[in-house]
Amino acid sequence: MVQPALDVVRLNLGCGTDVRPGWTNVDKFPVSSDVVQADFPTLPFAENTSDEVLLSHVLEHFGFKDGETLAREIHRVLKPGGVAVIEVPDIAWCAAQFLGAPEPQMYTDVTNEYHTNHRWGLFAMALWGDQHNDGLYHKWGYTAHRLLYLLQHVGFARVEVDYGFSHGVQVLQAKAWK
Ligand SMILES: C[S@@+](CC[C@H](N)C(=O)[O-])C[C@H]1O[C@@H](n2cnc3c(N)ncnc32)[C@H](O)[C@@H]1O
Repeated sequence: MVQPALDVVRLNLGCGTDVRPGWTNVDKFPVSSDVVQADFPTLPFAENTSDEVLLSHVLEHFGFKDGETLAREIHRVLKPGGVAVIEVPDIAWCAAQFLGAPEPQMYTDVTNEYHTNHRWGLFAMALWGDQHNDGLYHKWGYTAHRLLYLLQHVGFARVEVDYGFSHGVQVLQAKAWK
């Protein structure tokens, strides 16, 4: 069981390269020794111990069952009144962009391209992940309703979902209070 060091405990789950000072940064593939290694969906933290959890562009990397387990785990480790901030690609927007973009007139090597002028660049990666390693495959998608109902279903007392833009795509930004 990992013991977070600070009084105000903030967990940045699936941090990737976004390693934040003052946070406990956690990832299956740590980019440095400052990052705690853990393989979700279970979390190596005791219940009611975290003030804030950040899950940015991570939930879609889990199938729907493991995604529900991860959401329950986040609820478990939060203190009463603690907040989870969860950002995921808006799958409906991504699918619409994919369908609306033209086919390229040539083969494209998706691993090296994030083009938005045809469908097999960024928009395909927003649907299926950029697949640069085993942690970067998308296994499920979320609309605003699906994310709202999931977070309510696992027990969050209050949930707000807004739209935003990051990582090149329209995103859903949820805040969920325990
Ligand atoms: C798209 S990146 C997001 C990185 C960062 N949070 C951001 O917003 O830029 C997804 C991250 O989730 C991590 N990840 C994927 N599957 C995981 C798992 N089973 N357990 C822990 N981390 C995982 C990946 O290693 C990767 O760093």
